Amino acid sequence: MRNAEITGWGKCMPPNVLSNHDLEQLVDTSDEWITSRTGIKERRISHVEASELGAVAAKRALAAAGKTAEDVDLILVATCSGDSIIPATASLVQKHLEAWNAAAMDINAACSGFVYGLVTGTSMISSGGYETVLIVGTEKLHYIMDFTDRNTCVLFGDGAGAVVLEATEDDAGLLASDLGIDGSVGHILEVPVDGSHGDRTHPDPQMCGISMEGQEVFKRAVTKMGESSTISLEKAGIALEEVDLLIPHQANVRIIDATARRLGLDEGKVFVNIHSYGNTSAATIPVALTEALEQGRIQPGSLIVFAAFGGGLTWGSAVYRWGKRIEPIAESDAQLPPTDLTTMDLLQPNFDFFGLPEKMA
Ligand code: COA
Repeated sequence: MRNAEITGWGKCMPPNVLSNHDLEQLVDTSDEWITSRTGIKERRISHVEASELGAVAAKRALAAAGKTAEDVDLILVATCSGDSIIPATASLVQKHLEAWNAAAMDINAACSGFVYGLVTGTSMISSGGYETVLIVGTEKLHYIMDFTDRNTCVLFGDGAGAVVLEATEDDAGLLASDLGIDGSVGHILEVPVDGSHGDRTHPDPQMCGISMEGQEVFKRAVTKMGESSTISLEKAGIALEEVDLLIPHQANVRIIDATARRLGLDEGKVFVNIHSYGNTSAATIPVALTEALEQGRIQPGSLIVFAAFGGGLTWGSAVYRWGKRIEPIAESDAQLPPTDLTTMDLLQPNFDFFGLPEKMA
Protein backbone atom coordinates (compact mmCIF):
# COMPACT_ATOMS: atom_id res chain seq x y z
CA MET A 1 0.00 0.00 0.00
CA ARG A 2 1.25 3.47 -0.86
CA ASN A 3 2.42 5.25 2.28
CA ALA A 4 4.80 8.14 3.01
CA GLU A 5 8.18 7.83 4.66
CA ILE A 6 10.54 10.36 6.23
CA THR A 7 13.71 10.22 4.13
CA GLY A 8 15.42 13.44 5.21
CA TRP A 9 15.69 15.47 8.39
CA GLY A 10 17.41 18.63 9.55
CA LYS A 11 17.34 21.44 12.06
CA CYS A 12 18.49 25.06 12.26
CA MET A 13 19.02 26.62 15.67
CA PRO A 14 20.06 30.29 15.66
CA PRO A 15 23.37 31.00 17.41
CA ASN A 16 22.34 33.54 20.09
CA VAL A 17 21.68 31.92 23.48
CA LEU A 18 19.46 33.24 26.30
CA SER A 19 20.33 31.30 29.46
CA ASN A 20 18.46 31.06 32.74
CA HIS A 21 21.28 33.13 34.25
CA ASP A 22 20.65 35.85 31.65
CA LEU A 23 16.97 35.81 32.62
CA GLU A 24 17.93 36.20 36.28
CA GLN A 25 19.35 39.60 35.27
CA LEU A 26 16.04 40.61 33.70
CA VAL A 27 13.16 39.30 35.83
CA ASP A 28 12.51 38.03 39.35
CA THR A 29 13.34 34.39 38.64
CA SER A 30 16.13 31.89 39.24
CA ASP A 31 17.91 29.16 37.37
CA GLU A 32 16.73 26.81 40.13
CA TRP A 33 13.02 27.76 39.64
CA ILE A 34 13.12 27.50 35.85
CA THR A 35 15.07 24.23 35.86
CA SER A 36 12.94 22.51 38.49
CA ARG A 37 9.56 23.75 37.13
CA THR A 38 10.24 23.36 33.41
CA GLY A 39 13.52 21.53 32.72
CA ILE A 40 14.75 24.46 30.59
CA LYS A 41 18.36 25.70 30.96
CA GLU A 42 18.65 27.90 27.87
CA ARG A 43 16.90 28.86 24.63
CA ARG A 44 17.88 30.49 21.31
CA ILE A 45 16.98 33.96 20.07
CA SER A 46 16.94 34.37 16.30
CA HIS A 47 18.42 37.23 14.29
CA VAL A 48 16.47 36.16 11.17
CA GLU A 49 12.80 35.56 10.40
CA ALA A 50 11.06 32.20 10.77
CA SER A 51 11.11 31.64 6.99
CA GLU A 52 14.91 31.84 6.87
CA LEU A 53 15.38 29.49 9.83
CA GLY A 54 12.92 27.10 8.19
CA ALA A 55 14.65 27.30 4.81
CA VAL A 56 18.06 26.36 6.26
CA ALA A 57 16.51 23.41 8.15
CA ALA A 58 14.76 22.43 4.91
CA LYS A 59 18.00 22.55 2.87
CA ARG A 60 19.63 20.24 5.42
CA ALA A 61 16.64 17.87 5.29
CA LEU A 62 16.69 17.84 1.48
CA ALA A 63 20.43 16.99 1.46
CA ALA A 64 19.81 14.20 3.99
CA ALA A 65 17.16 12.79 1.62
CA GLY A 66 19.41 13.17 -1.44
CA LYS A 67 16.82 15.49 -3.00
CA THR A 68 16.96 18.95 -4.54
CA ALA A 69 14.49 21.80 -4.09
CA GLU A 70 13.20 21.07 -7.61
CA ASP A 71 12.02 17.63 -6.48
CA VAL A 72 9.64 19.06 -3.88
CA ASP A 73 5.98 19.20 -4.95
CA LEU A 74 4.46 20.42 -1.68
CA ILE A 75 5.76 22.53 1.22
CA LEU A 76 3.85 22.54 4.50
CA VAL A 77 5.09 25.07 7.04
CA ALA A 78 3.88 24.64 10.61
CA THR A 79 4.32 27.93 12.46
CA CYS A 80 2.54 30.33 14.77
CA SER A 81 5.20 33.05 14.55
CA GLY A 82 5.69 33.38 10.82
CA ASP A 83 7.01 36.44 8.98
CA SER A 84 3.64 37.67 7.78
CA ILE A 85 0.02 36.65 7.38
CA ILE A 86 0.18 37.13 3.59
CA PRO A 87 2.31 35.87 1.99
CA ALA A 88 2.30 32.72 4.06
CA THR A 89 5.64 31.73 5.59
CA ALA A 90 5.49 28.68 3.29
CA SER A 91 5.60 31.04 0.31
CA LEU A 92 8.74 32.69 1.71
CA VAL A 93 10.34 29.30 2.39
CA GLN A 94 9.62 28.35 -1.22
CA LYS A 95 11.36 31.55 -2.35
CA HIS A 96 14.44 30.92 -0.16
CA LEU A 97 14.68 27.36 -1.50
CA GLU A 98 13.78 28.24 -5.09
CA ALA A 99 11.47 25.24 -4.95
CA TRP A 100 9.50 26.46 -7.95
CA ASN A 101 7.68 23.17 -8.59
CA ALA A 102 6.07 23.14 -5.15
CA ALA A 103 2.67 24.18 -3.87
CA ALA A 104 2.96 25.62 -0.39
CA MET A 105 0.82 26.52 2.59
CA ASP A 106 1.05 27.26 6.29
CA ILE A 107 -0.47 25.17 9.04
CA ASN A 108 -1.19 26.98 12.28
CA ALA A 109 -1.96 24.41 14.93
CA ALA A 110 0.58 26.06 17.28
CA CYS A 111 2.73 23.45 19.06
CA SER A 112 0.81 20.59 17.44
CA GLY A 113 1.57 21.96 13.98
CA PHE A 114 4.25 19.46 13.03
CA VAL A 115 2.02 16.47 13.86
CA TYR A 116 -0.82 18.08 11.88
CA GLY A 117 1.68 18.56 9.03
CA LEU A 118 2.90 14.97 9.15
CA VAL A 119 -0.67 13.67 8.94
CA THR A 120 -1.58 16.13 6.15
CA GLY A 121 1.58 15.41 4.15
CA THR A 122 1.11 11.67 4.47
CA SER A 123 -2.50 11.96 3.31
CA MET A 124 -1.51 14.08 0.30
CA ILE A 125 1.03 11.44 -0.72
CA SER A 126 -1.15 8.40 0.04
CA SER A 127 -4.05 9.80 -1.94
CA GLY A 128 -1.78 9.77 -4.97
CA GLY A 129 -1.23 13.38 -5.93
CA TYR A 130 2.16 14.15 -4.41
CA GLU A 131 5.55 12.42 -4.33
CA THR A 132 7.88 14.59 -2.24
CA VAL A 133 6.57 16.77 0.57
CA LEU A 134 8.66 19.05 2.74
CA ILE A 135 7.33 19.62 6.25
CA VAL A 136 8.92 22.49 8.15
CA GLY A 137 8.28 23.50 11.76
CA THR A 138 9.75 26.95 12.33
CA GLU A 139 9.30 29.62 14.97
CA LYS A 140 10.59 33.06 15.87
CA LEU A 141 8.65 33.09 19.11
CA HIS A 142 10.79 35.71 20.81
CA TYR A 143 8.95 38.30 18.73
CA ILE A 144 5.86 37.73 20.91
CA MET A 145 7.69 37.27 24.22
CA ASP A 146 6.89 39.90 26.83
CA PHE A 147 9.79 40.18 29.29
CA THR A 148 7.64 42.02 31.79
CA ASP A 149 5.80 38.69 32.34
CA ARG A 150 7.98 36.14 34.11
CA ASN A 151 5.21 33.52 33.78
CA THR A 152 5.78 33.20 30.05
CA CYS A 153 9.10 34.79 29.05
CA VAL A 154 11.17 31.93 30.48
CA LEU A 155 9.40 29.21 28.50
CA PHE A 156 9.87 29.85 24.79
CA GLY A 157 12.64 30.02 22.20
CA ASP A 158 13.33 30.14 18.45
CA GLY A 159 14.37 27.41 16.04
CA ALA A 160 13.39 25.23 13.10
CA GLY A 161 13.28 21.60 12.05
CA ALA A 162 12.26 19.97 8.79
CA VAL A 163 11.62 16.57 7.25
CA VAL A 164 11.25 15.28 3.71
CA LEU A 165 8.37 12.86 3.18
CA GLU A 166 8.45 10.59 0.14
CA ALA A 167 6.05 8.05 -1.28
CA THR A 168 6.95 4.47 -0.37
CA GLU A 169 5.59 0.97 -0.86
CA ASP A 170 7.69 -0.27 2.09
CA ASP A 171 6.32 -1.14 5.51
CA ALA A 172 7.25 2.30 6.84
CA GLY A 173 5.54 5.59 7.64
CA LEU A 174 2.46 6.62 9.53
CA LEU A 175 0.49 3.71 10.96
CA ALA A 176 -2.20 5.73 12.72
CA SER A 177 -2.87 9.19 14.05
CA ASP A 178 -5.24 11.22 16.16
CA LEU A 179 -5.76 14.98 15.85
CA GLY A 180 -8.01 17.21 17.92
CA ILE A 181 -8.80 20.70 19.11
CA ASP A 182 -10.99 22.31 21.74
CA GLY A 183 -11.70 25.79 20.43
CA SER A 184 -13.91 26.59 23.41
CA VAL A 185 -10.78 27.06 25.55
CA GLY A 186 -8.56 28.62 22.89
CA HIS A 187 -8.29 31.79 24.95
CA ILE A 188 -6.23 30.17 27.72
CA LEU A 189 -3.14 30.38 25.53
CA GLU A 190 -3.35 33.20 23.05
CA VAL A 191 -1.68 35.96 21.08
CA PRO A 192 -4.67 38.07 20.12
CA VAL A 193 -3.20 40.25 17.35
CA ASP A 194 -0.33 40.83 14.90
CA GLY A 195 2.03 38.85 12.71
CA SER A 196 5.77 39.02 13.33
CA HIS A 197 7.01 41.04 10.36
CA GLY A 198 6.47 44.76 10.27
CA ASP A 199 5.17 47.24 12.80
CA ARG A 200 3.04 46.26 15.73
CA THR A 201 -0.16 48.20 15.41
CA HIS A 202 -2.34 47.46 18.39
CA PRO A 203 -2.53 50.29 20.96
CA ASP A 204 -2.45 47.83 23.86
CA PRO A 205 0.96 46.07 23.92
CA GLN A 206 -0.43 43.26 26.08
CA MET A 207 -2.66 42.23 23.18
CA CYS A 208 0.46 41.49 21.13
CA GLY A 209 2.27 39.13 23.51
CA ILE A 210 1.69 35.57 24.63
CA SER A 211 -0.81 35.34 27.45
CA MET A 212 -1.42 32.04 29.14
CA GLU A 213 -3.16 30.33 32.05
CA GLY A 214 -0.19 28.07 32.73
CA GLN A 215 -1.75 25.56 35.10
CA GLU A 216 -4.86 25.05 32.91
CA VAL A 217 -2.63 24.46 29.89
CA PHE A 218 -0.45 22.10 31.93
CA LYS A 219 -3.38 19.90 33.05
CA ARG A 220 -4.89 19.69 29.61
CA ALA A 221 -1.52 18.96 27.99
CA VAL A 222 -0.85 16.01 30.26
CA THR A 223 -4.32 14.54 29.75
CA LYS A 224 -4.55 15.05 26.01
CA MET A 225 -1.04 13.94 25.03
CA GLY A 226 -1.58 10.68 26.93
CA GLU A 227 -5.13 10.08 25.69
CA SER A 228 -4.29 10.91 22.10
CA SER A 229 -1.24 8.62 22.08
CA THR A 230 -3.36 5.77 23.45
CA ILE A 231 -5.96 6.34 20.71
CA SER A 232 -3.29 6.29 17.99
CA LEU A 233 -1.68 3.14 19.41
CA GLU A 234 -5.06 1.40 19.53
CA LYS A 235 -5.86 2.43 15.96
CA ALA A 236 -2.47 1.10 14.84
CA GLY A 237 -2.89 -2.14 16.80
CA ILE A 238 0.44 -1.52 18.51
CA ALA A 239 1.04 -2.44 22.15
CA LEU A 240 2.89 0.02 24.35
CA GLU A 241 5.71 -2.50 24.88
CA GLU A 242 6.44 -2.41 21.14
CA VAL A 243 7.12 1.36 21.17
CA ASP A 244 10.83 2.18 20.85
CA LEU A 245 10.71 5.94 21.30
CA LEU A 246 8.24 8.67 22.31
CA ILE A 247 9.11 12.02 20.76
CA PRO A 248 6.85 14.47 22.57
CA HIS A 249 6.41 18.19 22.09
CA GLN A 250 8.90 19.89 24.41
CA ALA A 251 6.92 22.38 26.50
CA ASN A 252 7.81 21.36 30.03
CA VAL A 253 9.78 18.35 31.25
CA ARG A 254 7.11 17.78 33.91
CA ILE A 255 4.43 17.52 31.19
CA ILE A 256 6.64 15.04 29.33
CA ASP A 257 7.31 12.96 32.48
CA ALA A 258 3.62 12.95 33.46
CA THR A 259 2.59 11.91 29.93
CA ALA A 260 5.09 9.03 29.95
CA ARG A 261 3.89 7.97 33.41
CA ARG A 262 0.22 8.04 32.36
CA LEU A 263 1.08 5.91 29.34
CA GLY A 264 3.22 3.59 31.45
CA LEU A 265 6.25 4.15 29.22
CA ASP A 266 9.77 3.71 30.55
CA GLU A 267 11.61 7.07 30.74
CA GLY A 268 14.50 5.59 28.75
CA LYS A 269 12.12 5.48 25.78
CA VAL A 270 11.33 9.19 25.88
CA PHE A 271 13.33 11.80 23.96
CA VAL A 272 13.96 15.04 25.84
CA ASN A 273 16.01 18.05 24.69
CA ILE A 274 14.00 20.87 26.27
CA HIS A 275 16.98 21.88 28.44
CA SER A 276 18.78 23.24 25.34
CA TYR A 277 16.02 25.05 23.48
CA GLY A 278 12.92 25.60 25.64
CA ASN A 279 9.57 25.43 23.89
CA THR A 280 10.01 26.15 20.17
CA SER A 281 6.37 25.27 19.43
CA ALA A 282 5.97 23.63 15.99
CA ALA A 283 9.75 23.17 15.74
CA THR A 284 10.22 20.99 18.82
CA ILE A 285 9.32 17.63 17.27
CA PRO A 286 11.31 17.86 13.99
CA VAL A 287 14.30 19.21 15.95
CA ALA A 288 13.98 16.38 18.50
CA LEU A 289 13.60 13.81 15.71
CA THR A 290 16.77 15.10 14.03
CA GLU A 291 18.71 14.91 17.31
CA ALA A 292 17.30 11.44 18.09
CA LEU A 293 18.71 10.24 14.75
CA GLU A 294 22.04 11.98 15.36
CA GLN A 295 22.27 10.28 18.76
CA GLY A 296 21.48 6.79 17.41
CA ARG A 297 18.16 6.60 19.27
CA ILE A 298 16.33 5.46 16.10
CA GLN A 299 17.09 2.23 14.27
CA PRO A 300 15.70 0.72 11.04
CA GLY A 301 12.12 -0.32 11.77
CA SER A 302 11.87 1.60 15.08
CA LEU A 303 8.33 2.30 16.27
CA ILE A 304 7.99 5.97 17.22
CA VAL A 305 5.12 7.85 18.84
CA PHE A 306 4.92 11.60 18.23
CA ALA A 307 2.69 13.50 20.66
CA ALA A 308 1.94 17.19 20.85
CA PHE A 309 -0.24 19.76 22.53
CA GLY A 310 -0.57 23.48 22.02
CA GLY A 311 -2.49 26.69 21.49
CA GLY A 312 -5.94 26.36 19.99
CA LEU A 313 -6.09 24.23 22.14
CA THR A 314 -4.81 21.60 19.75
CA TRP A 315 -3.41 18.14 20.26
CA GLY A 316 -2.16 15.38 18.01
CA SER A 317 -0.33 12.09 18.03
CA ALA A 318 1.03 9.73 15.43
CA VAL A 319 2.40 6.19 15.48
CA TYR A 320 5.18 5.94 12.95
CA ARG A 321 7.37 3.07 11.76
CA TRP A 322 10.86 4.20 10.71
CA GLY A 323 12.17 2.93 7.37
CA LYS A 324 15.55 1.40 6.52
CA ARG A 325 17.92 4.38 6.39
CA ILE A 326 19.08 6.16 9.53
CA GLU A 327 22.05 8.01 8.00
CA PRO A 328 21.76 11.16 5.86
CA ILE A 329 22.63 10.66 2.17
CA ALA A 330 24.49 14.00 2.12
CA GLU A 331 25.05 17.08 4.22
CA SER A 332 24.10 20.59 3.18
CA ASP A 333 26.48 23.51 3.61
CA ALA A 334 23.53 25.89 4.13
CA GLN A 335 24.13 28.33 7.00
CA LEU A 336 22.35 31.32 8.48
CA PRO A 337 23.98 34.68 7.73
CA PRO A 338 26.39 35.60 10.55
CA THR A 339 25.43 38.24 13.11
CA ASP A 340 27.40 40.56 15.39
CA LEU A 341 24.32 41.34 17.46
CA THR A 342 24.18 40.15 21.07
CA THR A 343 21.15 38.37 22.51
CA MET A 344 20.28 41.55 24.42
CA ASP A 345 20.51 43.57 21.17
CA LEU A 346 18.00 41.18 19.64
CA LEU A 347 15.65 41.55 22.62
CA GLN A 348 15.84 45.37 22.76
CA PRO A 349 12.79 45.80 20.44
CA ASN A 350 10.79 43.65 22.89
CA PHE A 351 11.88 45.85 25.78
CA ASP A 352 10.99 48.97 23.79
CA PHE A 353 7.57 47.65 22.89
CA PHE A 354 6.34 45.63 25.87
CA GLY A 355 8.20 47.61 28.52
CA LEU A 356 11.48 47.12 30.35
CA PRO A 357 11.91 43.90 32.31
CA GLU A 358 11.55 44.41 36.07
CA LYS A 359 15.28 44.43 36.79
CA MET A 360 16.12 46.89 34.00
CA ALA A 361 13.37 49.36 34.86
N1 COA B 1 10.29 32.49 38.16
C1 COA B 1 9.99 32.41 39.47
N2 COA B 1 8.74 32.25 39.91
C2 COA B 1 7.75 32.15 39.00
C3 COA B 1 8.00 32.23 37.62
C4 COA B 1 9.33 32.42 37.21
N3 COA B 1 9.68 32.50 35.92
N4 COA B 1 6.83 32.11 36.97
C5 COA B 1 5.88 31.94 37.90
N5 COA B 1 6.44 31.98 39.12
C6 COA B 1 5.78 31.88 40.43
C7 COA B 1 4.33 32.22 40.38
O1 COA B 1 4.16 33.62 40.45
C8 COA B 1 3.81 31.52 41.61
O2 COA B 1 4.10 32.32 42.72
P1 COA B 1 3.03 32.45 43.93
O3 COA B 1 2.87 31.04 44.45
O4 COA B 1 3.72 33.37 44.86
O5 COA B 1 1.80 32.98 43.29
C9 COA B 1 4.68 30.28 41.69
O6 COA B 1 5.82 30.54 40.87
C10 COA B 1 4.01 29.03 41.20
O7 COA B 1 3.37 29.32 39.98
P2 COA B 1 2.57 28.22 39.22
O8 COA B 1 1.88 28.83 38.03
O9 COA B 1 1.75 27.42 40.17
O10 COA B 1 3.77 27.30 38.72
P3 COA B 1 3.68 25.94 37.97
O11 COA B 1 4.33 24.90 38.73
O12 COA B 1 2.30 25.69 37.44
O13 COA B 1 4.59 26.23 36.69
C11 COA B 1 4.42 26.80 34.39
C12 COA B 1 4.26 27.29 35.81
C13 COA B 1 4.06 27.93 33.43
C14 COA B 1 5.89 26.41 34.18
C15 COA B 1 3.52 25.58 34.15
O14 COA B 1 2.20 25.86 34.58
C16 COA B 1 3.50 25.14 32.75
O15 COA B 1 4.47 24.67 32.22
N6 COA B 1 2.33 25.25 32.08
C17 COA B 1 2.20 24.86 30.72
C18 COA B 1 2.84 25.88 29.87
C19 COA B 1 3.02 25.42 28.47
O16 COA B 1 3.58 24.40 28.26
N7 COA B 1 2.57 26.21 27.52
C20 COA B 1 2.72 25.93 26.17
C21 COA B 1 1.86 24.78 25.81
S1 COA B 1 2.33 24.15 24.30
